[in-house]
Amino acid sequence: GRVGVLYGGSSAEREVSLMSGAGVHSALREAGVDAHLFDTGKEGIAALAGAGFDRVFIALHGRWGEDGCIQGALELLGIPYTGSGVAACALAMDKVMTKRVWLQHKLPTPRFAVLRAGESLEAVPGEVGLPLIVKPAHEGSTLGLTKVCTPASLAGAYELAARYDTAVLAEEFIAGRELTVAVLGSDETARVLPVIEILAPDGNYDFQNKYYSDDTRYVCPAQLSESVTRQVQALAVAAYRAVGCAGWGRVDVMLDREHRPYLLEVNTAPGMTGHSLVPMAAAAAGMSYSELCVEILASARC
Ligand code: DAL
Ligand code: MG
Repeated sequence: GRVGVLYGGSSAEREVSLMSGAGVHSALREAGVDAHLFDTGKEGIAALAGAGFDRVFIALHGRWGEDGCIQGALELLGIPYTGSGVAACALAMDKVMTKRVWLQHKLPTPRFAVLRAGESLEAVPGEVGLPLIVKPAHEGSTLGLTKVCTPASLAGAYELAARYDTAVLAEEFIAGRELTVAVLGSDETARVLPVIEILAPDGNYDFQNKYYSDDTRYVCPAQLSESVTRQVQALAVAAYRAVGCAGWGRVDVMLDREHRPYLLEVNTAPGMTGHSLVPMAAAAAGMSYSELCVEILASARC
């Protein structure tokens, strides 16, 4: 049947989604799927009802596309979609709530504080430690994120993050190695792909270094001992299950200098651009970009 690749949208990550969707669309067509691009930011949601899609591949990132909203609309329309359901998407989009769920499951995540408008920031460095990371609670692609090394720079970092979101998170900075783990499948059948290590210029994996720089290096499989690899992969699957994810996702992890892993977040509709990580991990597991898209599409449900 007819497959819609939902992309674009109207979140701050629109630009990234346009690249993800274009990649997924051409890969699915290459694989013989009758795939059509559908920009939810341009066409609007109402048009989705009449587009005649039997299934959709969600290549949207951030608000409205990765946070349970479009998933809810598709549920109401009865159109099967890729990835996690409404509740898991909504939870994963909220970094604070996700961390609370992980803590409840005794899964490690850096210390944090929630910053609110009008409240004093004075106690935050003491609670969380320095350096710390300030970021919007519901954003992706490091938008609005600042590393804070001195108490004096906290207010400016808060103001930047608050431009994106009313909820802002201050999180302990874990010095060490930046890892990410892709997970495919659901529940008992969930399986991890090889771990990726990200080596960004000056350790700064920001928006530019994520999508446009050729200076960011990636190592996959990451050069870790077998036992650390197993530990990181098991943690990623546990984190994915705790949030209730399905289909596919990517869990971001920091490994401290004592090789202890900490969970940062889970992405329920990760990037599928030419620079993106899930395709890289799939390739290391012997799966082409096109095979990856077909496998994710096959898991679409409603
Ligand atoms: N939020 C971006 C798209 C990612 O996680 O890949
Ligand atoms: Mg993210």
